[in-house]
Amino acid sequence: MSAGDARSPRSLLVTGGAGFIGSAFIRYLLGPAAFAGRVTNLDLLTYAGNLENLAALAADARYRFVRGDIRDGELVGRLVEEREVDTIVHFAAESHVDRSIVAPGAFIDTNIVGTFQLLEAARRVPALHFHHVSTDEVFGSLGPTGAFREDTPYSPNSPYSASKAASDHLVRAYAHTYGINVTLSNCSNNYGPYQFPEKLIPLMIMNLCEGKPLPVYGDGLNVRDWLYVDDHVEAIWTILRRGRAGETYNIGGEGERTNLEVIRLLVANVARETGKPAAELERLVTFVKDRPGHDRRYAIDFSKLKSELGWLPRHDLERGLADTVRWYLSSPEWIEHVRTGAYRAWLETNYAAR
Ligand code: NAD
Ligand code: DAU
Repeated sequence: MSAGDARSPRSLLVTGGAGFIGSAFIRYLLGPAAFAGRVTNLDLLTYAGNLENLAALAADARYRFVRGDIRDGELVGRLVEEREVDTIVHFAAESHVDRSIVAPGAFIDTNIVGTFQLLEAARRVPALHFHHVSTDEVFGSLGPTGAFREDTPYSPNSPYSASKAASDHLVRAYAHTYGINVTLSNCSNNYGPYQFPEKLIPLMIMNLCEGKPLPVYGDGLNVRDWLYVDDHVEAIWTILRRGRAGETYNIGGEGERTNLEVIRLLVANVARETGKPAAELERLVTFVKDRPGHDRRYAIDFSKLKSELGWLPRHDLERGLADTVRWYLSSPEWIEHVRTGAYRAWLETNYAAR
């Protein structure tokens, strides 16, 4: 298929749909995108999976949640068959770099073996389309200039990014060897509502609200390219429908900032929303030991996605961060359930562990 001929999925299997980006994708699909087909959300509900992210859709007739593991090939194969799945959108992963440094095993199991099991199921259904959601971290770390392009050589530096790179290679190999229809996307750092507070932005917002130290790794001058999560999911939907089969698309936010610049913007927003003095909040910044192997800079060249498919980010970082801070300040129940682990109590009563 060439760019411009739209695919029209009827039955989607979304993996990891209870996580931060997967849940934004499902909310987008069943909301603004007005998707009329079926969505099956396969999620294991690890610590990062939270069905409260999708509470408003629980009764939607188009939507079904299945608690299960992408590594369970029999379950995946059965779902694809029973639900007549024509498209898999693969978000499920272990996603946090610091966790991958402390305990890499789960990253190998979920990100590599899990992707393998999904591909095995996909290759039994010839016309099925597989969209693989990946990261810019597979390209490694940049110096002060330049940006990752789709043809930048892979050079992953953490167990997380190495496991994602391995999964990207599996997807390419299955397309090449078995003729599976695939598209891939490699995206920069996301932020927005419902992000688990282990990642920089929600962690800093919550600590600012509670007057806790803001732990800045190293000198705080590492650069990330920040993208609002709703813009990411719109890009995925665009690629899924109109991207060329077998192609990779980079997705970025034109939002390059040092970590300290991001934290200062968060300080300004929290000060404005709460009336707390900015100088007092700024004093919470605490420089701590650096992350081992910490990538210095990421930047994304997304001109391919822009020129072929016309996608552009809608939110600039200033507006996106203001919206995000307001969302966290107006969602005390979600925060409390995440902080106390109460979002998991619901899980134990409704979905006994397999
Ligand atoms: P997340 O950690 O918030 O969510 C991951 C989800 O996957 C959770 O709901 C979890 O329960 C589920 N999951 C984990 N292991 C599973 C398994 N074995 N079987 C089924 N479900 C399982 O992650 P996220 O930030 O939403 O990231 C989603 C995807 O996007 C990942 O593939 C990640 O690599 C990629 N990505 C993330 C970012 C970012 O900034 N967060 C940027 C680019 C790409
Ligand atoms: O680039 C895309 C990637 O972005 C995704 O693939 C990952 O899933 C996602 O977690 C994210 O990885 P990062 O490591 O860039 O994100 P994190 O929020 O963990 O850290 C962002 C930057 O902030 C990084 O330079 C480390 C720094 N940091 C992070 C935390 C949690 C701190 O200085 N202090 C902190 O407490």
